[in-house]
Amino acid sequence: MNQTVEGLIEKLAQEHTLETGELAILLKARDKQAAELLRQSADNVRQRVYGRQIYIRGLIEVSNICKNDCYYCGIRKSNGYCQRYRLTEEEILTCCQEGYDLGFRTFVLQGGEDGYFTDQRLCSLIEEIKKRYAHCAITLSLGERRRESYQRLFDAGADRYLLRHETATKAHYQRLHPPEMSYENRMDCLMALREIGYQVGCGFMVGSPGQTIDHLVADLKFIEAFQPDMCGIGPFISHRDTPFACQKAGTLEMTCYLLSIVRLLAPGVLLPSTTALGTIDPKGREQGILAGANVVMPNLSPSSVGKKYELYDNKLYTGQESAQHLEELKQRMEAIGYEIVTGRGDAKTYRI
Ligand code: 5AD
Repeated sequence: MNQTVEGLIEKLAQEHTLETGELAILLKARDKQAAELLRQSADNVRQRVYGRQIYIRGLIEVSNICKNDCYYCGIRKSNGYCQRYRLTEEEILTCCQEGYDLGFRTFVLQGGEDGYFTDQRLCSLIEEIKKRYAHCAITLSLGERRRESYQRLFDAGADRYLLRHETATKAHYQRLHPPEMSYENRMDCLMALREIGYQVGCGFMVGSPGQTIDHLVADLKFIEAFQPDMCGIGPFISHRDTPFACQKAGTLEMTCYLLSIVRLLAPGVLLPSTTALGTIDPKGREQGILAGANVVMPNLSPSSVGKKYELYDNKLYTGQESAQHLEELKQRMEAIGYEIVTGRGDAKTYRI
């Protein structure tokens, strides 16, 4: 590693910012040594903010019915091979109960853009969950909706919203999505969510088709400016029944490198070690934590539907025996020196 790269990592660790050109140099210079130095710096910062604690979120995949046709996604509407399902309100509440009993204090309701989930239905579901588990957090991940809709769901009790920006470069956004979808609308949604008062999560895939270093730099600068409460970053993995079937996947190494940089750009961010990372490598989840992530999101969806929420090929489905899985996850985290904790796990403010 040459002097400049070391200097850039030091600057990033001290000042939590880098110029566009500096980020490009850092990304281009990625090698084992640079990755390890970045990892250690990210680990230090994370340690100062969150100690050795890892937060867990119970992920409930409420529906794989989607009106969108994103080129990368296995549940896109044009995929006629996808077996569609939708959980009932009762099934969702059962997932919450099971999760609660296991110690989960955040429930993430994630799904495709399924018209069945009107504001009215979602509000009554959110109110019921809050009535039963008042001190738990509810995170929604249900795609693009109108501002008034986000407001109603927030007023009903939703605390957080995950909506990956996917890419902060308009031309690249267009390469990944059909013409009906727009970069501007995605960004408007994120701004509306923030203004309403949600804790907001953005994020992007690593190695998505057509992605360049400049695109990644734009993603990082966006994250630095937006300072999201949460940030989902995972490798792109192709799905056989999509237009991107033959595209190669993002790597574990690049994903971890970016996780470390994001931890340094936004020290207090809640950063999950994603399912996609666990899918491309058996030790991916651990590698993500070691690189600076501090959240894991085990699946609470019923085993009957777990495999159907297939955004990409061979998506890890570990929910079969939730209790057993959680126990294993705890042990795996302990083995690398981290501790899974129970609690809402809100973001902490980082003071330099
Ligand atoms: N590979 C990796 N991640 C994907 N996502 C969707 N399809 C894929 C894929 N093929 C991610 C998107 C989306 C999130 C729910 O899952 O970033 O926002």
